[in-house]
Amino acid sequence: MKKKVLIASILVLIIALFSLFLILYNGENKSKSIDEMLKDEGYSDNDISIILKKVSKDNYNDILEFGYDKSLIDILSSDDYDEKLFDNYILYYLKNKDANINDIIVIVNSGYDLYNYPASSLLASLTEEKYYINDNVARYLDYGNSHDVSPKKIVGFVNSKADLGFYSESYDSNLDDGNLVLVNKFYHLKEDYTPSDLISLGGQYNKGGNNKMRKEAAEALMKMIDAAKLDNIILYNISAFRSYDYQVNLYNRYIKRDGKEAADKYSARPGYSEHQSGLCTDLNEVSDAFEGTDEAIWLKNNAYKYGFILRFPKGKEDITGYKYEPWHYRYVGIEAAKIIYEDDITLEEYYAYYIEKNSD
Ligand code: DAL
Ligand code: ZN
Repeated sequence: MKKKVLIASILVLIIALFSLFLILYNGENKSKSIDEMLKDEGYSDNDISIILKKVSKDNYNDILEFGYDKSLIDILSSDDYDEKLFDNYILYYLKNKDANINDIIVIVNSGYDLYNYPASSLLASLTEEKYYINDNVARYLDYGNSHDVSPKKIVGFVNSKADLGFYSESYDSNLDDGNLVLVNKFYHLKEDYTPSDLISLGGQYNKGGNNKMRKEAAEALMKMIDAAKLDNIILYNISAFRSYDYQVNLYNRYIKRDGKEAADKYSARPGYSEHQSGLCTDLNEVSDAFEGTDEAIWLKNNAYKYGFILRFPKGKEDITGYKYEPWHYRYVGIEAAKIIYEDDITLEEYYAYYIEKNSD
């Protein structure tokens, strides 16, 4: 009997101790609620309600480790704060403690994923540019910090490689790019390259000796010339495909006449002329006098509908490397032509963003 009482007493004691432990443990837990812990760190009630509203539970520990910082509340209070990017804001902020909070928000929201560059209003405005390419950020900043030009210009200039200097690097043009093949002062065609599908432009469509174009481009050109005629605009090719050897003679003739530096501004070196691609045409008149004519204006406003772009526009000389050529139209297909026309960019800028960026 005594033994039973003893066992019962021990059991009661164990239950009592366990209950006491639970009560104490819960109490302890209560004093460690997130609100209390944040308060201990120095956050006000208002701060805490912002944190609880804007930060997911998984990140509470990060905030506690972070300790009190008013900037954290500023980041969370921004209209553009995105909860999914919480870790990125914190990481980028820790590297850029003196930066403007808005700049940090814009840079991180842009998907910027390098942490090697200090946050600045220039970087923030660059990341907002449609054609911003993260891999080019160091060159954007180099160029932008030493030139007083707009973020759009910085991005276009650097994406086109123009900051490297024309003819400073040379790559093979990628013929797999089809109608979008880039031939410029960085990308060249091989000496023996002649497109396999050249066809001749005849009759009303041509008044020149170099009258061949690749089939799709030639057909689009004839369609455009027919459409222009309905608007009483008469267009015709005067120079389309030119072989490498032809360009050798042409370029050398220009050098003799004007010197190399001047010739490079309006004539491509052999291999570097897109006339060798069979995708472009000089229309009506290779002369500055063509600018402002009804024909030039019609082309500027309508060519994109047929897949052509004004290849060397005014104001983009530093990107294309050539002076304005109101007569030189390049076939790229309707989809690309529309983007290039509507966004007022060059083939260089289009290529960097839509083709080259995605090819790595
Ligand atoms: N005039 C253009 C740039 C060429 O020579 O291809
Ligand atoms: Zn031309």
